[in-house]
Amino acid sequence: MRPKAMTPPSTPNLALRVLPSESALFDALAEHVIALAARAHGEGQPFTLALAGGSTPRALYAALARPEQRARVAWQNVVAAFGDERCVPPSDPESNERMARESLLDGVPARVLRVPTELPPGEAAQRYELSLRALFHAPIGPPRRTFDLALLGLGADGHTASLFPHAAALVDEHAWAVAVPAPAAGPMRVSLTLPVLAAAGELAVLVSGAEKRVALHGSLYGPFDPARWPLQALAARGARVTVWADPSAAGM
Ligand code: 6PG
Repeated sequence: MRPKAMTPPSTPNLALRVLPSESALFDALAEHVIALAARAHGEGQPFTLALAGGSTPRALYAALARPEQRARVAWQNVVAAFGDERCVPPSDPESNERMARESLLDGVPARVLRVPTELPPGEAAQRYELSLRALFHAPIGPPRRTFDLALLGLGADGHTASLFPHAAALVDEHAWAVAVPAPAAGPMRVSLTLPVLAAAGELAVLVSGAEKRVALHGSLYGPFDPARWPLQALAARGARVTVWADPSAAGM
């Protein structure tokens, strides 16, 4: 089922695909992940994937874990990392790693690059950065090319990964991963920074639900304000950002 094109967003490099339903959204994005993984495998390259956190992606990962879909990916060729993580143990219900392992990773032989949340947040971010630098053969300096695909979510306030509106992390040009406070009273987080995400081959932002409508509209059609809308900040860096949404998030 082909996604329905929408009015082009006001920021270049930002695209919107609206699928006919929430389940069609997860199925279509799962197919896209499978296709990208197959392309990398066909080229004899590992498929490097940054996983989104929160709750929405659970259904996407479950779709990829379905036996028919799972069998279509050479998981031994996949390296999965995290766009961000809460600084809690991997057994904690808040953990993005726990959510990804429960819904997908525990059932496939992918290599997992985890955020070492057993360390204090600052050290966890530094250690995670070292593992990413090793993965992408960039021991020093800025990232040239990172993930084949970075999956992201969108918060109701417009944040993505753990890059919150007006946060200092949005202007960090050097670190690849940073420890950041969550705006609510939640645990500290470790987040990839804009340079690392923008260096991905492609970014897919998974957005579902009416509560995301304002954030989606502001990100795609609002005035250009990259400090307020992190997706605009990513696109302004030349990243190919596609928002994959269901009708309720798109306001249809
Ligand atoms: C996190 C995510 C965060 C998430 C959005 C949407 O760790 O919370 O990385 O950026 O994607 O907040 O979360 P939901 O999918 O739960 O709405």
